[in-house]
Amino acid sequence: MVSLALMCFAGCRQEQDKTIDEVLRKMTLEEKARIIVGTGNEGRWVAEASVGNMKDVVPGAAGTTCPIERLSIPFVILSDGPAGVNIDSTREHEAGTFYCTHFPVGTALASTWNSELVETVGRTIGDEAAHYGVDVVLGPGMNIHRHPLNGRNFEYYSEDPLLTGKTAAAMIRGIQADGVAACPKHFAANNQETNRMGNDVRVSQRALREIYLKGFEIAVREGNPKALMTSYNKINGISVSERHDLVTDFLREECGFSGVVVTDWYGGDHPEEQMKAGNDLIMPGQQWQVDSIVHAVNAGRLDISYVDQCVRRILKLVYAAPRNRDGHACDNHPDLKAHAAIARQSATEGIVLLKNDKQALPIAPAAKEIALFGCASYDYIPGGSGSGDVRRAYTVSILQGLQNAGYGLDPQLASRYADFIGKSIAAGQTKVTARFADMVRVRPDEMPLAEAEIAAQARRADYAVITLGRTCGEYYDRTSSDFELSPEERALLENVCRIFHAAGKRVAVVLNIGGVVETASWKHLPDAILCAWQLGQEGGNSVADVLSGRQSPSGKLPMTFPVRLDDIGANANFPVDQTSDVVSMASRRIDRGERNVDYTCYEEGIYVGYRWFDSRQVEVSYPFGYGLSYTTFAYSDLKVQQGEEEITVSVDITNSGTAEGREVVQLYVSAPAASMDKPAKELKAFAKTASLTPGEKATVSLVVKVEDLRSYDEGAKQWKLEPGTYKVMVASSSRDIQATESIEIENWGN
Ligand code: BGC
Repeated sequence: MVSLALMCFAGCRQEQDKTIDEVLRKMTLEEKARIIVGTGNEGRWVAEASVGNMKDVVPGAAGTTCPIERLSIPFVILSDGPAGVNIDSTREHEAGTFYCTHFPVGTALASTWNSELVETVGRTIGDEAAHYGVDVVLGPGMNIHRHPLNGRNFEYYSEDPLLTGKTAAAMIRGIQADGVAACPKHFAANNQETNRMGNDVRVSQRALREIYLKGFEIAVREGNPKALMTSYNKINGISVSERHDLVTDFLREECGFSGVVVTDWYGGDHPEEQMKAGNDLIMPGQQWQVDSIVHAVNAGRLDISYVDQCVRRILKLVYAAPRNRDGHACDNHPDLKAHAAIARQSATEGIVLLKNDKQALPIAPAAKEIALFGCASYDYIPGGSGSGDVRRAYTVSILQGLQNAGYGLDPQLASRYADFIGKSIAAGQTKVTARFADMVRVRPDEMPLAEAEIAAQARRADYAVITLGRTCGEYYDRTSSDFELSPEERALLENVCRIFHAAGKRVAVVLNIGGVVETASWKHLPDAILCAWQLGQEGGNSVADVLSGRQSPSGKLPMTFPVRLDDIGANANFPVDQTSDVVSMASRRIDRGERNVDYTCYEEGIYVGYRWFDSRQVEVSYPFGYGLSYTTFAYSDLKVQQGEEEITVSVDITNSGTAEGREVVQLYVSAPAASMDKPAKELKAFAKTASLTPGEKATVSLVVKVEDLRSYDEGAKQWKLEPGTYKVMVASSSRDIQATESIEIENWGN
């Protein structure tokens, strides 16, 4: 067991001054193997499997590297995650609280389409990590939304690799601004939770390159992360952490990644294959993995140079870590108040206005009393469960947010809901085993309300708000019934809309969701719909900011809202409702050859999200890139300048409405009909204007590299630029093209 006295590391400063090679020369094989294998995450879920015990250094952290006392080699602490630092909020041996700020989930951050803002969120997470002694933040999560039912989509950004990569790069730059390392995850094609540790992704090279690796490529090139996490799944038969072609050839050699590659927790089966592939750190670490590396070297199966290479990279990370730098002290006192303001700002900007008939929103200033329906209005869902959760100090519910904004809310209705929620959570909790308690959020069903009660509310209040909520989290994929509205929700929606409309009053629906839900069958009912995602601890205030008009909504959807699940390209090849019990999902299951569970065929190829819907002309409920504002925007004066290497596009955006607002301008390119199969259009750049007052104009400039117009030619095993006429389109969503120009691309030295 590792003693806590090691934390002092008397001689470590001198040792740091020596070269890593010198340290490496002094290490025994056993010590090298130990540093490659983490110290376990005792105190979390699997105590018996751990190599050592470092749980008291930063309680609740996901893991640590192993310190080597003999050589004064210090350690680093790794902690989740994508929506804020995930550590315990109380400690056994220390007084006080250790809360972290719960930011909006990844999907909500991507909905801002604002890289600067995401970078600020990242900087804040990095700052909190440094204050709490966390050296590596296990985030951002950046897998592609291949199917809306993936249980962890909430942690991820988008169905589009460019938006994913740009958002991730911004988050990485932010987290790393002051020395903490970011660890983007899960590389790659980790798109379902069902049998997540055993699933074999069968995917074409083209789809891999253009869709599933592309975001990582952008994130590495533009964010330069110091670490990166390989995923649990296999790709075409081999675990990602054991694939030299992905970890070394692609990531390191092609993309220029120079940091530490970390396994996902308990991911991969063969440490020696992981070393050979270039996966440096095995987490959280088990004794058999140390033994296996030592044996493999001694038996001549694993060349020591592979081991040395991994150790060298890990030592570089360790010595550069904040906790091992001169003068660094973690004071456990981040500025939580200032960070909450950033959480609120980013949450507000992530809200997407889906519908706003006859300017139903913002709520007119004359409306003072609101009737608030739906359990999630009172029991707001700030984020998903599992490693992406955050131990926050508080959650602002929508009830509180509206009260803070000065609205009147019926205390009797509030206490009816509180009572109902309390009882159903207590009843539901008995179904959850203790081991998985922190991974499953028990949610109440919707509370039935008699029509007479709704009518009484319609007499009392000026406006109705209904919140529909969905939980989601690690280990589970969502089900088709989770995508649909429940009968209770539908009844509530229908009754409230009918009764309030009869009284001449308006109804807004707020979606408090981590992933896409069905909207096509009911969106005609309310006057307005806000997609408010899971916005973190300040969620209620942010929703009130938008409902009241304090802020004009400026988020846009980072994915498509389909009409039906069946309409999705990947639907036949996703485990829709195939999820079984939590325990078998928690661990790697024996391969029974079950389609979509043991293996998943990505038959849709590159046709993911809008690439599918737009190319196949499938009707959608809300398209990719869509989102309304309280104002309107006019596009004019599109200019396209074509250079050798770059295409520069500029367009004027004028606020043509009556409120202040920001527009997200999207640039799509449509390739010529050529030898390669191409999607109808692909996002190639985007930008968000500053806040424009009515009548104000801004010129937006966007740059596309000519090389980014290439597609991956599987036969030739290289990227290929098709010559011909390309359409350059500026758009306010993937289905709302505002202006188009054509450019000619010549043969380009393919
Ligand atoms: C998750 C990772 C997480 C790790 C450490 C794994 O179960 O897949 O995303 O970073 O645990 O908590």
